[in-house]
Amino acid sequence: MAQIVLDQVRKSYGDVEVVKELSLTIHHGEFVVLVGPSGCGKSTTLRMVAGLEDVSAGTIRIGDKDVTQLEPKDRNIAMVFQNYALYPHKTVYENLAFGLRMRKAPAAEIVQQVKWAAEVLGIEHLLDRKPRQLSGGQMQRVSLGRALVRRPDAFLLDEPLSNLDAKLRVHMREEIGALHKRVETSMIYVTHDQVEAMTLGDRIVVMHQGYVQQVGTPLEVYDHPRNRFVAGFIGAPEMNFVEGEVTRIDGTPVFQTSGLRVNLPGEQWSKVQGPVVLGVRPEHLSIQDSGEISARVNLIEQLGAQTLLLCDVGEGIRLRVLSGREDRMRGDMPCRITVNTQKMHLFDRSNGNSLLPT
Ligand SMILES: Nc1ncnc2c1ncn2[C@@H]1O[C@H](COP(=O)(O)OP(=O)(O)O)[C@@H](O)[C@H]1O
Ligand SMILES: [Mg+2]
Repeated sequence: MAQIVLDQVRKSYGDVEVVKELSLTIHHGEFVVLVGPSGCGKSTTLRMVAGLEDVSAGTIRIGDKDVTQLEPKDRNIAMVFQNYALYPHKTVYENLAFGLRMRKAPAAEIVQQVKWAAEVLGIEHLLDRKPRQLSGGQMQRVSLGRALVRRPDAFLLDEPLSNLDAKLRVHMREEIGALHKRVETSMIYVTHDQVEAMTLGDRIVVMHQGYVQQVGTPLEVYDHPRNRFVAGFIGAPEMNFVEGEVTRIDGTPVFQTSGLRVNLPGEQWSKVQGPVVLGVRPEHLSIQDSGEISARVNLIEQLGAQTLLLCDVGEGIRLRVLSGREDRMRGDMPCRITVNTQKMHLFDRSNGNSLLPT
């Protein structure tokens, strides 16, 4: 039983602060994903939890123990890396057993733990092989197994699927989800891939430039992004953003820019005025004859089950519209788009914060 608490943790390299006052509690058994673009401080944060990097300020607790000053080996957590880090001259069995041998675990326990981990990961038939005789997916399984056999208080995974091809990545993602259910141990998982974050996390932590932008369940973050960065980073195809002004027409707030005008019904917008950025996800736009926006199809991407239409509206505005399968549209066709106004977002143009009341 171990929850992990990061309390006002900071990290600087020289004058540059790369993690800025991060406070976060990972509950026992929870799967938390740190997600954000490359360089935002995800790996640094994970390495501080592992004890591979010192913190510049703040404390880290695992269970009821302050581990801030403890060596990695004294923290009882296991880390899985993108590059697998297997011993090339040892067999899979010996790779799995190595950590336990180093800790002088009894022989019977080593046999039992390796057997259990191999079975959980479906690699029993590979135990006599060397790493070079394994595929990428198999190597990643062994690397997960090496973490599993230690029965740690928590697993830390840093982009564990990045070296796999797209199809295998999806498969291993499902396996990691299933593994978490089975071992019920806290996991902190780092990725730049918002799909991995959405699908795996009980909660996701969106990071940008060393700051935590938002923490929440995947759907909370998707439905209620706190700022424009989160809105654009989470969700594919990406949210549409259009700069404009909110004015009043006959007392009703209206979003306007050249070639585009959208009424803003509902209480939530009653106080908004002046320059804003409108945000609307592609699935909240649709092609309808009665649509209020006049547009022209620029490009059509057939995704199979769905169709993504890139439509030009007025001067320099391009909207992505994600519809059900649409076979009739052709490039350059005029069309009309309607906005699901219940699902719109408005952001402050200067600081990017959401203008939806919380
Ligand atoms: N040992 C180091 N010395 C100086 N800067 C570093 C070091 N390690 C990481 N950084 C910088 O810290 C920032 C965060 O890095 P990192 O945590 O690896 O990002 P991420 O994992 O999100 O891609 C980056 O700007 C990176 O260049
Ligand atoms: Mg990293």
